Amino acid sequence: MNRRPLIAGNWKMYLTGAEAVRLAQAVAATSGACLDRDVMVAPAFTALAKVCEAVRDTPLQVAAQNVAWGKEGAYTGEISPIMLADLGVRLAIVGHSERRQIFGERDAMINRRLLGALAGDLQPVLCVGETLEEREADHTFSVLEQQMRQCLQGVAKGEMRQMILAYEPVWAIGTGKTATKEQAQEVHAFLRRFLAEAYEKSVADEVRILYGGSVKPENIDSLMAQSDIDGALVGGAALNAESFDRIIRFQ
Ligand code: PGA
Repeated sequence: MNRRPLIAGNWKMYLTGAEAVRLAQAVAATSGACLDRDVMVAPAFTALAKVCEAVRDTPLQVAAQNVAWGKEGAYTGEISPIMLADLGVRLAIVGHSERRQIFGERDAMINRRLLGALAGDLQPVLCVGETLEEREADHTFSVLEQQMRQCLQGVAKGEMRQMILAYEPVWAIGTGKTATKEQAQEVHAFLRRFLAEAYEKSVADEVRILYGGSVKPENIDSLMAQSDIDGALVGGAALNAESFDRIIRFQ
């Protein structure tokens, strides 16, 4: 199955506007030179407008790190999909483990955000992943199945085709511990089977599933060689133009 690879950088709560624009311009130059793959960056909300403006005429895609739902409303601290689309943002990460672990977001809320993104014409990047405790108790697959079921409630087949999934084992994020390529491939294959059962095989074949968790220049090639790994969601190593450049140029 020919799925177009996607390398995505999640900049988290790093970089002021000028710093973000500088990095985005460097990434856009690399992405312009690698036309057989998609490249995305997710700046902090405060840098989104400037970054969108700076890379408007390049293939680099810009995502938000989270999104609310609806057009507008009394939701202090939140940003609507329409506000993001207005800036030129095309994608939104939802359900990142830091949202879940630190800010208490649960599957039901992530589902609302995801439906909000779809309704607002933003492509959602849904993150799922188990904690170390869950993996050690042998609950990895039941936890993932539960997250998928609850986060995807009400998502129709046609909408599912527009989504991107990211498997991010919580124990591998920012810890320097990467899942082995075998561990990652096993979960990616499981998620694809889930999509085939919940939707249909053609959906499972189309949806890109990214791996995230301590992706680095040293491990990207072997991860991308796995048949069900279609890209990477990169945190720390995406903040450095050189290391992200090498990750985008995976072989
Ligand atoms: P990391 O973060 O690459 O720094 O582990 C990945 C992520 O949180 O998306």
